[in-house]
Amino acid sequence: MKFTIDSRSLAETVQWGRKLAGILTGGDVVCLYGQLGAGKTSFTQGVGRGLELDESVVSPTFTLIHAYDLPFVRRRAARFIHMDLYRLGTVEEAEQIGVDDCQQEDAIVLIEWPESALPLLDADRLELTIEGCGDQPRRLTFQSAAEAWRQRLAEGDIP
Ligand SMILES: Nc1ncnc2c1ncn2[C@@H]1O[C@H](COP(=O)(O)OP(=O)(O)OP(=O)(O)O)[C@@H](O)[C@H]1O
Ligand SMILES: [Mg+2]
Repeated sequence: MKFTIDSRSLAETVQWGRKLAGILTGGDVVCLYGQLGAGKTSFTQGVGRGLELDESVVSPTFTLIHAYDLPFVRRRAARFIHMDLYRLGTVEEAEQIGVDDCQQEDAIVLIEWPESALPLLDADRLELTIEGCGDQPRRLTFQSAAEAWRQRLAEGDIP
């Protein structure tokens, strides 16, 4: 499945993240693609708000992986894990920092710059590509090898 939506502002991108949070389930993996400043972290902050995290989501550039406990378990998910793998080059490095260990039934995982880790990730992951930068509007393309995502996203009012 594949479809594209537009986001004309930061607030709109955050709002799409919030909507996605409404349907995410433990075990889900979401990959975020897009150039520097496209809005991957902004979208993730929307997901964090939608999951009602106590803390706000910050860019995990220095630690690569941030894990947050959800305030209450929802659809199997007790934890939210946010990764930024920009500085990784190989799948071995991704393995070393424990990317595959993060894919658990009780965790929702969002990964910025997932390229180095792709061989480790579930085939039925959701992929989101954000195009545009600076003051330009953004195009958000959702796609997945798993057709079930279309129905799930529709339940979350996406698109
Ligand atoms: N429609 C839009 N959607 C998202 N961000 C926007 C939009 N319009 C402008 N922006 C701005 O673009 C920037 C996006 O930054 P953000 O940190 O989310 O990008 P990123 O993709 O995570 O970058 P990086 O690869 O460095 O982690 C913010 O400064 C935000 O204010
Ligand atoms: Mg970022």
